[in-house]
Amino acid sequence: MATKLARICLARPFLRTLSTAPPSHLTLLGQQYPTDSITNISPTIISKLPLRLHTQPFHPLNTLRTLIESHFPDYAHLSSFSPLVTPYKNFDELSFPTDHPGRSVADSYYVNKDLMLRTHTSAHEIDVFRSGKTKWLLTADVYRRDEIDGSHYPVFHQMEGARIFSSDASGMKEVEEDNARLSQHLSQSNILIEDILHITPTNPAQPSHDPRHSELVAVNLKLSLNSLLLHLFAGVAGASKEEPLRVRWIEAYFPFTSPSYEVEVFFRGKWLEILGCGVVGQATLDRADVPHKMGWAFGLGLERISMILNSIPDIRLFWSTDPRFLSQFSNTDRKISTFKPYSKYPSCFKDVSFWLPLGEDNKKIHENDLCDLVRDVAGDLVEDVKMIDSFRHPKNNRTSLCYRINYRSMDKSLSNEETNALHSGVVSRLQDQFRVEIR
Ligand code: PHE
Repeated sequence: MATKLARICLARPFLRTLSTAPPSHLTLLGQQYPTDSITNISPTIISKLPLRLHTQPFHPLNTLRTLIESHFPDYAHLSSFSPLVTPYKNFDELSFPTDHPGRSVADSYYVNKDLMLRTHTSAHEIDVFRSGKTKWLLTADVYRRDEIDGSHYPVFHQMEGARIFSSDASGMKEVEEDNARLSQHLSQSNILIEDILHITPTNPAQPSHDPRHSELVAVNLKLSLNSLLLHLFAGVAGASKEEPLRVRWIEAYFPFTSPSYEVEVFFRGKWLEILGCGVVGQATLDRADVPHKMGWAFGLGLERISMILNSIPDIRLFWSTDPRFLSQFSNTDRKISTFKPYSKYPSCFKDVSFWLPLGEDNKKIHENDLCDLVRDVAGDLVEDVKMIDSFRHPKNNRTSLCYRINYRSMDKSLSNEETNALHSGVVSRLQDQFRVEIR
């Protein structure tokens, strides 16, 4: 998890801290875009833009996508939306408040103030609803600045799913019929669902919705997702009458749905968050020019689910081009195969301690800035970055930080020379970019 101290520090835009002038333009997916004072998209991230793992034949994320799509055969299946979106699409259009932390340059990647990398697939909800689609799934790469560890990567893949109905009697009849069909199917299966009330004072129906309609739609959402989770997990987790699959629903908050929920699945002794969802905000549907509809939407993280289903121990492996990784998935036709680790190579820990620049104490380096820097130097050879010490000198008031970096390749043993070279690259970039004084 992120060390709290670094998280609360004020972020500094990435390029503004460079001692060399930032480029005036960036080439992204074959097109040039001007940079500005908030540009913070790094070379490592730029290199990921064309990869689109969810569409690469036999890649486990692609297999999982098609498996989920096969569970919703009569939905439109979309997967070619560009990751470059306006902050308006990513946030404002979905009713995010202007002070939402997700908007900050510490948490999101900006090409410039008018263009960013989507942080979630919900950024396309309004366009898809506006195109007239009433049942759809959309898969895409999403980008969030984050810490470095085995389950966080600044690029990951989400699938958004939605279904909308006419908000009149005929639409609600359709919901009721579908609910009856789905309940029947689930009652015969080995799944134990810890449910919560669909609507509560803290997780209310929207003012413009008839609460009975909102409840019907929420039930349809829950039944549709429970049925998907059963399809995905029951086989692999080996759900049986004695050990049924356990799913729990939790109240949540998203600015663009109400009521909202999160879903967790109990797997190998732990509750794992799998997805967020809710009854679509009426403002979303109004903006999409379908004001007479109501419905639900969900967004799930494909890596998270694939790590569980395929037993993939480290999120970096999804980016591996090592045939020992890829070949394990090459014969899968919508079938989940269990990954067999080919080897665990040794870790090499290196510490770096430094004084923050004098007089800039309230503009400390944000941990996400540091992680981007480390990724730019060491790529996927870095497994983990943790702050292990932080203190303020009582006399001169200077702040010292110490980070421990774990270098480990997934494909080979790193030699001492290699790790030393990587680490001195990190140290000198820290000096250049953030003007810290190494201790
Ligand atoms: N976009 C949300 C996220 O990334 C998930 C979500 C999708 C929530 C659709 C509600 C509806 O966390």
